[in-house]
Amino acid sequence: MEKTWFREMTVFQIWPRSFKDGNGDGIGDLKGILSKLDYIKSLGADAIWFSPLYVSPQADYGYDIADYYNINPEYGTLDEFKEVLAGAHERGIKVIMDLVINHTSDQCEWFKKSAAGDPQYKDYYIWRPGKGKDGKKFPNNWMATFPGDGWTYNEQRGEYYLHLFAVEQPDLNHDNPAVREEVKKIMRYWLDMGVDGFREDVITMISKREGLPNGVWLPAMRGMEHYMQGPNLKKYLTEYRQVTKDYDCMQVGEAPMMTPKKALLYVSDGEDKVLDMMFGFQHMEADCLFISWIHTGFNLRKLKKVYNNWQTMLYNKGWNANYIENHDQPRNISRYGSEKYRVESGKALATMYSFLSGTQYIYQGQEIGMVDYPFKSWDDFVDVSTFSTKKLIEKLGFSDKKIFKMAKYAARDNARTPVQWSAEANAGFTTPDAKPWYLINPNYTEVNVEAAEKDPNSLLHYYRKVIALRKQYKDAAIYGEFKLYLKGDKQLFVYDKIGEENKLTVVINLSEKEVNSSKVKKFIPEGAEEILANYEGMGDKLRPYETHVYLTKK
Ligand code: GLC
Repeated sequence: MEKTWFREMTVFQIWPRSFKDGNGDGIGDLKGILSKLDYIKSLGADAIWFSPLYVSPQADYGYDIADYYNINPEYGTLDEFKEVLAGAHERGIKVIMDLVINHTSDQCEWFKKSAAGDPQYKDYYIWRPGKGKDGKKFPNNWMATFPGDGWTYNEQRGEYYLHLFAVEQPDLNHDNPAVREEVKKIMRYWLDMGVDGFREDVITMISKREGLPNGVWLPAMRGMEHYMQGPNLKKYLTEYRQVTKDYDCMQVGEAPMMTPKKALLYVSDGEDKVLDMMFGFQHMEADCLFISWIHTGFNLRKLKKVYNNWQTMLYNKGWNANYIENHDQPRNISRYGSEKYRVESGKALATMYSFLSGTQYIYQGQEIGMVDYPFKSWDDFVDVSTFSTKKLIEKLGFSDKKIFKMAKYAARDNARTPVQWSAEANAGFTTPDAKPWYLINPNYTEVNVEAAEKDPNSLLHYYRKVIALRKQYKDAAIYGEFKLYLKGDKQLFVYDKIGEENKLTVVINLSEKEVNSSKVKKFIPEGAEEILANYEGMGDKLRPYETHVYLTKK
């Protein structure tokens, strides 16, 4: 297995709006980020992935880009970005930019010119005339991922444009070579500035089937069989890969509906690799059916099956991207762990995924155990997809009370509340007299970075330890072979990672209930050294979320 720098990394994800405000306007910014580079370094992180920092009207909080070459003025200036980049590099931290090229903002110059019929830009997007006698029917039956119609009529152009996300996010036409040249230009611009790679947003959706045929009837995401890993995806990704070959950089693609078997088409080692790794979603579906709104309760067996598949199928062939939180997912302790056992379950989850083969990703606030927001009313939500999903579920006939409960559990807003830095007013996210752009979780008086720094048993210190151990025993943790035990057990997650020199045995009670430790003792090799735990010693019973990691030297 090839050993490259990005394979060994722990990447810290920043969602800029809520990370840290440096100028007192209540919105996170580059100045704030600059002030926290040492903190990020102190975690043992090797890279930062920035959710979009570019100029954007913020219809989807930056995932709707109006200008790919500049920084959103709310976040600062290009010079400030360069300062952050240099500051990160000085500390040995790589910088990964979000590359959002499935769509732009409707405020992007390209779209404005395309709508106006400018010959150079007219085919930059996917335009179609309306159907039916009056020309008012949609060009096909596709739906947007943020549920709703996939098409919107543009008066100026007199045609419909396709948008697989919000109305303000028109899809680019990657079949047009000029669009692909624009993408390459953007990539080169940031790579030449010195960034170290890209996280490529919904990259597997960029190729749409020719003729845009109707999709089979589905209540949501209708048409996806025609654009999820569409016919020219590999071809276009190969072109974009050519650009990165001139630089020492990495590419991680976001890949909804990906399976390990299909992932190998893109991430297998060898000449035709087009992405270094992918963010799959299957492991984020252990408590739901397909999307987090359809909550089924946490099912550990489902989770273990997914990990087992990805770990074994990619072993010695490709590479995983391991995450349990990001800006699109509710907080993991609230989903797979327990708010009642916040610290213990946070440690169990940290352990669970830190010793898996793959590059590790940590989302801001995850390291201190931030949990979901206690939403009280619909006015508390701000994310476009929360409201579009609400609208769709209303149509299916659910009561408002039921939908609110679903939203509370599933909304992306949960991950987007400001980072809790201290117990000061506004959680130290912004100045005490400013108005933060979004709600701060009232638990900030207890759950915050400053308090976690002072507490030797905090999740924060545990994360530092886990990240260091992952590197120290990388032959096993990062590159080793995964072996799962007790597949059918509903509470226990037990696995080995077997490396050339070391073997790690990970034992987790991933539940609130106690369980007899006799069930796991047989997997702990005689003479193995305990290198990590969230409780002292192991009694007859494993306590809620009790976790141990053992090292055996070969
Ligand atoms: C990705 C992003 C998400 C965004 C969507 C559309 O899934 O992670 O935040 O809303 O793409 O760009």
